[in-house]
Amino acid sequence: MSIHGEIKRVTTHTLQSMKQRGEKISMLTAYDFSMARIFDDAGIDVLLVGDSASNVMAGHETTLPITLDQMIYHAQSVVRACHRCLVVVDLPFGSYQGNSKEALNSAIRIMKEAGAHAIKLEGGEEVIDSIKRIISAGVPVMGHLGLTPQSIYKFGTYTVRAKEEAEAEALVKNAKLLQEAGCFAIVLEKIPAALGKRVAEEVNIPFIGIGAGMHVDGQVLVMHDMLGITKDFSPRFLRRYLGLYDDIKNATAQYITDVKSKDFPNEQEQY
Ligand code: KIV
Repeated sequence: MSIHGEIKRVTTHTLQSMKQRGEKISMLTAYDFSMARIFDDAGIDVLLVGDSASNVMAGHETTLPITLDQMIYHAQSVVRACHRCLVVVDLPFGSYQGNSKEALNSAIRIMKEAGAHAIKLEGGEEVIDSIKRIISAGVPVMGHLGLTPQSIYKFGTYTVRAKEEAEAEALVKNAKLLQEAGCFAIVLEKIPAALGKRVAEEVNIPFIGIGAGMHVDGQVLVMHDMLGITKDFSPRFLRRYLGLYDDIKNATAQYITDVKSKDFPNEQEQY
């Protein structure tokens, strides 16, 4: 709590001090008010309104189809729910790759229309001008290296990235570039744990991993995976904390049975 009795918000500076004192950063994705409220109440440090909404909320195969307007809708709902955590919002595919002016306009829309606290975008050297321009307008930027799902058609697969020396060196170089450009943190997706350890040691800003091993500064999971709502997705890095797919399916089957057998509603459940 702050001296005014309000809940103390997590800021980009909080994450930096957490790295310095070795406290791990917890991050989850969220796309709607109700789940974001539960995560914030539970004490999550960062909520990411990820473009994975394209997969888990809208049912697309990739993250490419989601639009800036749709991201803003999800972000507005999440921001309304959060009192404490830092809310970071993904710039969707096609909203920043064109040029740095387009990138800045997209970031400004997210900050202004959703009330987000920071934005995230994928890539290194190729987006550095956009990152600098967004930061110079006062918008905090989180980077994203390793497996970058918006480039899935370039990679061709969702397998572990940077296993080869050349790609690992390029990743370290890009991490340093992002730090120099002023990014406050970087998501590292699906890379060898040893490489995660190396960048987290060589670069001073916090690294938040998803499949990047135990040595990075924090961890992020997609909420549907962590809660066991997605069923057919079992990468090695995923730890499931609930089995909600089966729980919700069983509860729904019971409800159907109760309605059809006229067990629901009973005397106490009507006016
Ligand atoms: O969109 C997303 O959910 C993400 C996480 C995988 C980090 O970028």
